[in-house]
Amino acid sequence: MKVDVVLGLQWGDEGKGKIVDVLANNYPVVARFQGGPNAGHSLHFGDMSFVLHSVPSGVFRKDAINIIGNGVVLDPIIFREECEKLEAIGVPVRERVVIAKKAHLILPTHRTLDAASEASKGKSKIGSTLKGIGPTYMDKTGRNGLRVGDTLAENFQERFQALKDKHIGLLKQYDFEYDPNQNEKEWMDAIEYLKSFQLVDGEYFANKKLKEGSRILAEGAQGSMLDVDFGSYPFVTSSSTTCSGACIGMGVAPCTIDRVFGIFKAYCTRVGSGPFPTELFDETGERLRQLGHEFGATTGRPRRTGWLDLVALKYAIMLNGVTELIMMKSDVMDTFDTVKVATGYIVDGVETDKVPYDTYAEVTPIYKEFKGWNKDLSKAKDEKELPFEFMNYVRFIEKEVGVPISIISLGPDRDQTIVRE
Ligand code: IMO
Ligand code: MG
Repeated sequence: MKVDVVLGLQWGDEGKGKIVDVLANNYPVVARFQGGPNAGHSLHFGDMSFVLHSVPSGVFRKDAINIIGNGVVLDPIIFREECEKLEAIGVPVRERVVIAKKAHLILPTHRTLDAASEASKGKSKIGSTLKGIGPTYMDKTGRNGLRVGDTLAENFQERFQALKDKHIGLLKQYDFEYDPNQNEKEWMDAIEYLKSFQLVDGEYFANKKLKEGSRILAEGAQGSMLDVDFGSYPFVTSSSTTCSGACIGMGVAPCTIDRVFGIFKAYCTRVGSGPFPTELFDETGERLRQLGHEFGATTGRPRRTGWLDLVALKYAIMLNGVTELIMMKSDVMDTFDTVKVATGYIVDGVETDKVPYDTYAEVTPIYKEFKGWNKDLSKAKDEKELPFEFMNYVRFIEKEVGVPISIISLGPDRDQTIVRE
């Protein structure tokens, strides 16, 4: 059997949670493969809303097994809070979630390091979610990290102390006040909680599932434009958010990847610092923010907003081998008289359709303008109900990027989803 991958193609917050929940029906296994509690995947059903940070979005489906893959970094405290909330509404998380032993642990001092590092950067700060993501991946690649499986070792406490001491040493370089023991008791309690889950050899687990004929849905976090290699470095996250990350973060071979669902919003948003060529600083930007409820699911920060950027979208499609697109939140622009899309950039006076290497380059977008559809799309149940102006927008995007849009989402609810033939 094969692995299908769902990825955010922009700067995160594309609506991955909703789509994984919608698609999960067809998949016996859902897996997260990178990122950590910096992610905030929102799901809505009826009058209930839920934000998932570490647990895969298949957890609400009765028959799905959810893997937290080796590529994920896990904060036991946040994981516990999230699971207890799920248990409180009757979701049997322990039956539905397994954790790869090779996933790395976020220590309280990783979070302190994240905060100290950001504070020291002043104006050039990345705008991190301060969940300790960067420092944890640094320890992973620096070969110092602690992994979920290590919690079962007899000398776990000593190893924890050794890593904590190392962090305290590192923190000396910053002028930063902190309590070295902050959250430690809570963290250790959460480790005990974590140990009540099935801790597995994730790579064997996933490959066995494939062999048995189970299709896996891999749920990306963040977005391609935040990828540590291909995003606007250094304003990126610390993991591989692109399709190949699914192989590394789960232990499945590249040839197992089949469909690649690329999710994008009908406009763009970004939280934190870094380039955003189509950003709007005017009233239209504010309307996108208010109508689209563009406030961070993890940090509550207002998101930066702007027009759809096809240069960035084409780049992400290329990097990921996207086979089909999923367009989110077009209903947010239902009342707009005009809608714009960037089809190219001008960089140093020269027109280009490529994302420039230089993160600090001055980029002026070239726009194509569309007449708005001025119709409430949120209740449409069938493609035939969608207005001409809207379908014009959809077809233009498909033609420009060369990949079909197979799903159009017109609201947060599971039911507000149009699957196209
Ligand atoms: P989901 O999965 C949007 C951004 C942060 C910051 C940068 C680095 O919900 O789409 P980090 O905490 O990773 O060191 O922050 O990346 N960022 C996200 N933005 N959605 C996310 O996740 C994000 N995860 C990280 O705002 O600019
Ligand atoms: Mg989010």
